[in-house]
Amino acid sequence: MPVNYQNETFYSIEELSQPTNIPLEELKQFAVTAKKISISPREIQDAIHINKLELNKFFESFLSFKGIPSDRQHKIPDYLHNCTSAWAITLVEMYSKKINFPAAVSPEQGEFLKSIISNINPDNIVEIGCFTGISTIWMAAGLEQIGSKATIHAVDLFNEILPWLPHRYGYLSDPLEYARNSALSAGLGHKIKFHKMNSLEMSKRFNELINQPIDFLFIDGDHTKEGCMSDFVNFYPYVSTGGYIMLHDIYPEHCGWDGPRYVIDEWLIHNHNLSLVEIKTSPNNFGMALMRKIG
Ligand SMILES: C[S@@+](CC[C@H](N)C(=O)[O-])C[C@H]1O[C@@H](n2cnc3c(N)ncnc32)[C@H](O)[C@@H]1O
Repeated sequence: MPVNYQNETFYSIEELSQPTNIPLEELKQFAVTAKKISISPREIQDAIHINKLELNKFFESFLSFKGIPSDRQHKIPDYLHNCTSAWAITLVEMYSKKINFPAAVSPEQGEFLKSIISNINPDNIVEIGCFTGISTIWMAAGLEQIGSKATIHAVDLFNEILPWLPHRYGYLSDPLEYARNSALSAGLGHKIKFHKMNSLEMSKRFNELINQPIDFLFIDGDHTKEGCMSDFVNFYPYVSTGGYIMLHDIYPEHCGWDGPRYVIDEWLIHNHNLSLVEIKTSPNNFGMALMRKIG
């Protein structure tokens, strides 16, 4: 458990090792040799502890110590760089943060999401798994473009985000606060309602929290077979006839997750009330599936 000492939170090396996938011995060796990182005061030093405020610096130093490139991020297309809208400026800033790679949709996929939203003009959008809000801001920008008054309900656990090598290189203590602030600086805060909860809970409390048929459901939350199936089955009844459902990360061989593919192969294929198209995505072909509820 993190330790509180004089209003600061300290993590032990043991605690950090498991969720970050960094071997304990390597972290320990680094922590004791690194001079730049403040280690916890003697009073709480039964093990090596690190100040929570310095976690980012700690991991950045660790990665450069190990010679691991820590500059992995989505490539920003010129048109996004050159766009002067607040949402575009905010997205460029968000994409520059290591924490958002590769979990957030790429600019190409985001542009696709924005375009779908501005074309189908949904009255009600639900996003399961918004992470730091990049995909949410893309969709909200689509609403803004057509002057829509619709709301996006974005649900996430919003747990503290730790590095998870070799894919994730950053640290974020409060993803909900970051997502809210980003939506505000994008000028789209009024279009997004963030819900910090498990999607299962949201599905159970749907009538209390949303109580309006879903015209566009974006499922990008728990990517395990059980989790993705649960999201699909629990939210499907709330999708309007003619409404759309989008699944992200449908190609396990590229994205490393098998839940969305499982939902397609085991369930969707047998459901004749849905038409389905699989979409290749760029630059990483994690894949998306778009379907329409036709009956
Ligand atoms: C791949 S990320 C979503 C990326 C985001 N859609 C984007 O493109 O920027 C998956 C997210 O799902 C969330 N998640 C996983 N299981 C969940 C659950 N049971 N309920 C709500 N959110 C969940 C995680 O916290 C994580 O932020």
